[in-house]
Amino acid sequence: MKLAKDQIARQFSRAATTYDTAAQLQNEMASVLIDAIPEHSQGTLVDLGCGTGWPLKQLAKSGKFEMTAIDIAPGMIEMARQKAPQMNFICCDLESTPLPDAFANVIFSNAAIQWCDTAKAIGEIARIAKPNANLLLSTFGPATFVEIQNAWKEIGDSSDRIHQFENPKTIEHLLEDLNFEAITIKRENRQLIYHSVDDLLRGIRNLGATNASSNRSAGLLGKERYRQFRAVFENRLTQFNQLELTFDCIFVFARTA
Ligand SMILES: C[S@@+](CC[C@H](N)C(=O)[O-])C[C@H]1O[C@@H](n2cnc3c(N)ncnc32)[C@H](O)[C@@H]1O
Repeated sequence: MKLAKDQIARQFSRAATTYDTAAQLQNEMASVLIDAIPEHSQGTLVDLGCGTGWPLKQLAKSGKFEMTAIDIAPGMIEMARQKAPQMNFICCDLESTPLPDAFANVIFSNAAIQWCDTAKAIGEIARIAKPNANLLLSTFGPATFVEIQNAWKEIGDSSDRIHQFENPKTIEHLLEDLNFEAITIKRENRQLIYHSVDDLLRGIRNLGATNASSNRSAGLLGKERYRQFRAVFENRLTQFNQLELTFDCIFVFARTA
């Protein structure tokens, strides 16, 4: 899938001031990764797609790492810098960073590579990782936003309305091909609950998680279609008194040879 990078950078910069209020799930995912960092790890840590820096702040607490944080959205870096001013920040695409080969002892990336070309992102991780480096990565799988996918289907709209999320098997194969070892993948569905359609849609927007596939049918989101789409959720709300939104959370742990 072709991704519009400038659009991703813009939508996340726009979401930078609201992201923290909507990111409880992402923070929980970051905690899973942080807790899995091996006790003995130290040295250079790179956070790919650092966002507003909640994970960075937690990672800094151990005092064991020299940290470099990367994000494509200048607005996100600005917010992160306020939380962790002592850190080295680089505003760039994580698929091709200016970091040297074999730079990092730990590569950390929470809820970011779903916006990337997975093969390029994993290739870059392999390039910047030192031998025996630990990778701790989370992303979202294909069942993410299944309720939204179903709502579009229900009104007979099969166009590319939402982001296409990668199958975790693909990530596993890419890591195997690059000789990563001790690959462990965990998958867990988590649901966020909303009490209005506006809250649900605002929740997605505040996370910057609108569709960024450049082949989406831009402009086709006519008023009538959108009204039908909303009506599906309004009906569900009447029926169940709440709305669920699924996140197919993927956690990946591996080590370079
Ligand atoms: C959902 S946020 C997660 C942020 C942070 N890791 C956290 O746990 O709170 C995804 C982040 O990835 C960044 N991002 C998306 N595509 C990127 C790319 N190609 N290169 C670098 N950063 C990217 C976005 O700008 C955004 O800050």
